[in-house]
Amino acid sequence: MTVHFIGAGPGAADLITLRGRDLIAAAPVCLYAGSLVPEALLAHCPPGAKIVNTAPMSLDAIIDEIAAAHAAGHDVARLHSGDLSVWSAMGEQLRRLRALGIPYDVTPGVPSFAAAAATLGAELTLPGVAQSVVLTRTSGRATAMPAGETLENFARTGAVLAIHLSVHVLEDVVEKLTPFYGAACPVAVVWRASWPDERVVRATLGSLRTAIGAEMERTALILVGPSLGAEEFDESRLYAGDYDRRYRPLGTHPRFPEGTE
Ligand SMILES: C[S@@+](CC[C@H](N)C(=O)[O-])C[C@H]1O[C@@H](n2cnc3c(N)ncnc32)[C@H](O)[C@@H]1O
Repeated sequence: MTVHFIGAGPGAADLITLRGRDLIAAAPVCLYAGSLVPEALLAHCPPGAKIVNTAPMSLDAIIDEIAAAHAAGHDVARLHSGDLSVWSAMGEQLRRLRALGIPYDVTPGVPSFAAAAATLGAELTLPGVAQSVVLTRTSGRATAMPAGETLENFARTGAVLAIHLSVHVLEDVVEKLTPFYGAACPVAVVWRASWPDERVVRATLGSLRTAIGAEMERTALILVGPSLGAEEFDESRLYAGDYDRRYRPLGTHPRFPEGTE
């Protein structure tokens, strides 16, 4: 018996890995975080599967459900939105499972920042403009931010920021970032990326407040940084015609002659 933690992707039901889909199809028990996991994914559950929405449950109750499946020898498909490596509450479940000696594995999913970037048609790491993306959030009612992880500290680096769980404090985010990136810095807010009711607002830090208008649904990602919509950037050296590389050795004395490691 194994508990399969599966990244369910950002919302569109076909943005799950084949491995994730097959694990769901083979598990007689499915626990899903109902607030963000699309119900359409549950269609992959086998007939007669026990399907439990964990959104209203406590951690204790979730672990009890898993322990009962373990006692019955039933595999569990455990679905969380996006990818499991960020803001999934997987860590605390894994720790409990380790203590109970219940086996598990983890299948990654498409994270929401990647889905939002896809919606925007944006490469976030454009050569000469930005080479780092910071996945971050602001503090919430349930989670305080560690002391050094402030928006200002990340902004100082000039990296692209993908700010989660924060659209309700958008004005504060804009106020904190503007001194670092400038009012002309591009910003995009993507609500429910990849869902049928996805919505996008592109603006600058200076114009975002008016561009957004009335407050909308909370599931949104704020992307801020110079690479959003930039046209002035370097071409990647990797594909430059004169760049000697392992898969395209050049000249009479290439750095990586064919057949070398
Ligand atoms: C609890 S976190 C889950 C993050 C998820 N594990 C991931 O990989 O993106 C929820 C936050 O992720 C962002 N988010 C999740 N799904 C999204 C989507 N489809 N579109 C935009 N933002 C999304 C929002 O900022 C939301 O408040």
